[in-house]
Amino acid sequence: MRLPERIKGIPPYIYAEMDKAIKKAKEKGLDIINIAHGDPDLEPPVEVVEELKNSLSEKDFHKYPSYWGIIGLREKIAEWMKKRFGVDLNPEEEIMVLIGVKEGITHLFLALCDKEDYVLIPDPAYPTYRTSAIFSESIPYSIPLLKENDFLPDLNSINIDVMNKSKVIILNYPNNPTSKRADKRFFKELVDFCHKWGIYIIHDNAYSEIYENEPAPSIFEIDGAKDIGVELHSFSKIYSMQGFRIGWVSGNKDILKSLSIIKTNTDSGVFVPVQKAAIRAIEIYDEFATRIRKIYKRRRKLVKGYLDRLGWKYYDSDSTIYIWTEMDEGKNDSMKMVSDLIDKKGVMIGPGAGYGKYGEGYLRFSVTQPDERIEEAMERFVDYLKGVV
Ligand SMILES: Cc1ncc(COP(=O)(O)O)c(C=O)c1O
Repeated sequence: MRLPERIKGIPPYIYAEMDKAIKKAKEKGLDIINIAHGDPDLEPPVEVVEELKNSLSEKDFHKYPSYWGIIGLREKIAEWMKKRFGVDLNPEEEIMVLIGVKEGITHLFLALCDKEDYVLIPDPAYPTYRTSAIFSESIPYSIPLLKENDFLPDLNSINIDVMNKSKVIILNYPNNPTSKRADKRFFKELVDFCHKWGIYIIHDNAYSEIYENEPAPSIFEIDGAKDIGVELHSFSKIYSMQGFRIGWVSGNKDILKSLSIIKTNTDSGVFVPVQKAAIRAIEIYDEFATRIRKIYKRRRKLVKGYLDRLGWKYYDSDSTIYIWTEMDEGKNDSMKMVSDLIDKKGVMIGPGAGYGKYGEGYLRFSVTQPDERIEEAMERFVDYLKGVV
């Protein structure tokens, strides 16, 4: 088959190499523990599942849903955004329900970019940013997230020529994969910078609710952000509703209008019972999210304890479900190490290189397994490093 250029330009699937190693390890009879993926093991709220079940038999819910999402959910989201971040959003034209943040990202690039516009993409990053840029035929321009800059982009170091051609910047704090959280000072710098250069901001806030102490901010807490930006939120991580496929985008109404043109021509919205279930999730947010944060806190501590005892360095954050860990001296081929670890010990960790060139030399530990499985994985990791067969 003669593949189109947009498909040929997609970087290889990061887990393809690992999949081969997993197949081999399973054939050897190894019990595989996956602490690579950001796929929460926890149950969604029982109230949410109940609501979904009850809604299934509602007359009319099997029909095509509304494109922007049911107004009841958009109003709930507006209320929650006000309470959580102190921001005002009009549910009629500043909030749209998505089939998950991933869908929103891909379609936002189509809604915002012309062929050959530059788009600023962090490296390392959630791989969908780059692939979405490629699908839109825009040009992804990497902005490194380096340890020496505390995993924030150095906006002022971007070449003027690039800035003149750039249409969009996409960022994500609290960050996958580094777990860095940004403060309002950085968001202010970002908003001022984007106003100056006439660049749209897409802020992916999929991990906003996973923290230990201080809640992570929204870009809309900065004056002027809504004039040029949108922010994405997900039900996948904090509510473990990743299989439901639901999230939302809020912010600039012209960007949302443009997005709606793409979406009305590609999808037909989210199944209404899933939207009803999402309303229920928001209703029980306070109690549920507090409980989930405690679980992730305990698990993060568990992994960090092992890394501390090994003397391995990691980015010490209280946010997200990841621990971004520097590979030990002399070890800098993350893909090779991860494949070898699967082969020898059946443990799967995220290879830093899978998130971009600047991710090489790092591993991403994910806390999305029960405590005892994480413990078992870390014990095997220690044995692997000691060369224990
Ligand atoms: C940064 C980031 N954004 C978005 C997503 C996907 O979110 P959703 O399940 O809402 O599509 C992920 C999933 O891992 C992610 O890491």
